[in-house]
Amino acid sequence: AKKIVIDCDPGIDDALAIALAHGSPALEIVGITTVGGNVSLERTTDNALRLREFLGFPEVPVTPGAAGAMLRSAIEAAHVHGTGGLGGAVLPEATLPVAPGHASDYIIETLRAHPGEITLVAIGPLTNIALAVLKEPRVVDWVREFAILGGTYTRGNRTPAAEFNIAADPEAAAIVFRAGWTVTQIGLDVSTTAQATEAVVKRMRALGRLGEDLLVPCATFYGMVTASEGPAIHDACALAYLADPSLIEFEPAWVEVETAGRFTSGMTVIDFALGDRVANANVGTSIQVDRFWELTLSAYERVNQG
Ligand code: BDR
Ligand code: CA
Repeated sequence: AKKIVIDCDPGIDDALAIALAHGSPALEIVGITTVGGNVSLERTTDNALRLREFLGFPEVPVTPGAAGAMLRSAIEAAHVHGTGGLGGAVLPEATLPVAPGHASDYIIETLRAHPGEITLVAIGPLTNIALAVLKEPRVVDWVREFAILGGTYTRGNRTPAAEFNIAADPEAAAIVFRAGWTVTQIGLDVSTTAQATEAVVKRMRALGRLGEDLLVPCATFYGMVTASEGPAIHDACALAYLADPSLIEFEPAWVEVETAGRFTSGMTVIDFALGDRVANANVGTSIQVDRFWELTLSAYERVNQG
């Protein structure tokens, strides 16, 4: 299986993405790192710890990182994810502690120890990743693939121009896109089309304790209902892609992050006309929604069966 480190801010859709990763036979979670984002770092970390035990991978380290943006004050999205961050889900308290050290150092040391083997996927603000590439630029050579859920070339969700994960720390995102690797960028253009329809929620409901205690209370939380046919489960798209890259179509592009705009701060300015530039990103342009749900629901089934 593909070895992955997940940098996240759970977060309703982060939780659904982590459950997918754990249930997918194509993926092996080797580490989880947390960042402040949807809710505070304290809460995203506590949620990651609870998820680890509830889903059943107690041996995987959870390492906390940055509490907020590099140069700006923190923003959050508790109105979308609930004050606890997991919508209507109330998971049992965790019994195991966090791993020592900072997420950015964990990322550096893990990639250093296994060059070419680890896929890094970021589904929160990019602060930890930016700190890692600043401290140790060779991570871009050591990583097998770096993928994010973030950005958009159509319209934003935090502002008309900007997607939340990029808007939360535009300077970090700018550093990450200029780091010298080819970012696999899956943005709102793709993720908003993968909606948890009533039919999907019905299938989640049939998944025992996993469905009742986590999937359904997350997917039906009022704040997530932003799309026409049901909530978009953004972060899960990035993990589903790693499990089966054929789900998403990509186009190479040059991506810059706006850090100075009065109305456009955090915008991903995506130029598909490369000219003689070498792409710094492969940008997702569409996802096969039915196949996405088949993969996701069968991963959830596997988690449910223990
Ligand atoms: C992203 O923002 C967060 O609120 C979600 O968890 C997801 O990572 C979608 O814009
Ligand atoms: Ca997230």
